Amino acid sequence: MNSFTLPQLPYAYDALEPFIDKETMTIHHQRHHQAYVDNLNAALQEAEETSTDLDSILQRISEYSPAVRNNGGGHYNHSLFWDILSPQPKLNTEGKLAETINNTFGSLEDFKAEMKKGGLGQFGSGWVWLFVKFNGSLAIASTPNQDNPMMDTQSVNRGFPILGIDVWEHAYYLAYQNKRADYLDSFWSVLDWSAVEKKYEEALSKIR
Ligand SMILES: [Fe+2]
Repeated sequence: MNSFTLPQLPYAYDALEPFIDKETMTIHHQRHHQAYVDNLNAALQEAEETSTDLDSILQRISEYSPAVRNNGGGHYNHSLFWDILSPQPKLNTEGKLAETINNTFGSLEDFKAEMKKGGLGQFGSGWVWLFVKFNGSLAIASTPNQDNPMMDTQSVNRGFPILGIDVWEHAYYLAYQNKRADYLDSFWSVLDWSAVEKKYEEALSKIR
């Protein structure tokens, strides 16, 4: 029996205001994320899959049903998203990640502009990612629905996500309505670069 559970938020529902409002955070975590967890457990039970290694399942997602893909991605992606947000974020990156971002994208501002372009360019629901490719380099990609760059259904550029922005309307519509660009700009005010730096190191250690 699989027993994925909803992770606790490491801050209060209103902690990210005014950038992400309390009602959005509450519904997003308690209803949307909880539904991904419940539906993932049901889909894995249906598939008679007892593994709880979600990383490994996502990397072989082509072997599973659409329900595992959608809800496994949903659980993984949202867990990462809560983790990289903070009411007391480190607003700039430094060290190896900063250096690699500069070398790959030109500058932090160029990187943010590329992420915004990816987020705006994702038609309908999805995510835009910064991820560590399996060869160790950094890349940006957007994915539809609850897909992410780890999944073996991605045709190119697979790797480990270290920063993801949820561009489903459920992530921003109550406060920003149709203004996805404004939400994408606000995101950087609550992004904690120390969490992304930690995920960068973890990703590099997985491919060494
Ligand atoms: Fe979401």
